[in-house]
Amino acid sequence: METLQEKFFRLKKERNAVVLAHYYQDGEIQDLADFLGDSLALAQAAKKVDADVILFCGVHFMAETAKILNPTKTVIIPDMNAGCSLADSAPQAEFKKWREDHPDHIVISYINCSADVKALSDIICTSSNAEKIVNSVPLEQKICFAPDKYLGSFLVKKLGREMELWNGSCQVHETFSEIAVIKMQKDYPNALMLAHPECPENILQYADYVGSTTGILKFAEKSENKEFIIATESGIIHQMKKNLPDKIFYSVPNLEGCSCNECPHMKLNTLEKMVNALETLTPTIEMDEELRLKALKPLERMLELSD
Ligand code: 13P
Ligand code: SF4
Repeated sequence: METLQEKFFRLKKERNAVVLAHYYQDGEIQDLADFLGDSLALAQAAKKVDADVILFCGVHFMAETAKILNPTKTVIIPDMNAGCSLADSAPQAEFKKWREDHPDHIVISYINCSADVKALSDIICTSSNAEKIVNSVPLEQKICFAPDKYLGSFLVKKLGREMELWNGSCQVHETFSEIAVIKMQKDYPNALMLAHPECPENILQYADYVGSTTGILKFAEKSENKEFIIATESGIIHQMKKNLPDKIFYSVPNLEGCSCNECPHMKLNTLEKMVNALETLTPTIEMDEELRLKALKPLERMLELSD
């Protein structure tokens, strides 16, 4: 009898599919992926795929981005309900009004937003290129930044650049416990703290390094240090332990006291659902061509600025 993993590999071959996965996926999914990365690396990889099918193991806006960048491919996702609180915080109608209320501003949107919001934006950024993207805008040009107010505030402070900020946040990164961070820094005095810029300032103030998931992974790889306190979704720790078996990682708990902080949307994906998606070639990401072309522009602008 064929095991689930065997079925996955058979169907992947039969469908000529490539599996792209984010670091916040379960370890099992990360290990099965053809390409693993942060939001930027996944967008860059999606654009280059020449297989027939992209099975995107992440959340909806990531798969949507893959479809925008590589429209002739069939893009499937294990669970259509895998959304994102940040993307949901920017509904199209309100975002359009915000944009209209700031006619002399350029709009930079974090990639964690819908295709509708991308289509209303001038440039997209991710957590790994946000500084570069903001710095690419002339100093005299006013900026609106959406939807993550914490990443926005981090950039305002770090770059000394005023920006109008949308009031959105990530339900995972905004709920790390500051009290736990203080205790962990006391308990593990030799540990360096690495944090994602979607965290609020009350957490980032303790960080030795702030960066994207790939940035956090690379920092730990390059550092001579042996112990790290990690303030981002705990899925990344799977890859950190795998790449750095001699180092120790402590996950910052959330306000409810869970020992790690998981994204409930990312965690909707399972191997069973991946196999089902490959078998049925559903659910697929479909997009109106006019919308796709509008959303493509700011994404391409980002990719040009990220090389
Ligand atoms: P990065 O992939 O840019 O690190 O962003 C993390 C995230 O929250 C994705 O949803
Ligand atoms: Fe969205 Fe936060 Fe989950 Fe990333 S971790 S997908 S930003 S809710």
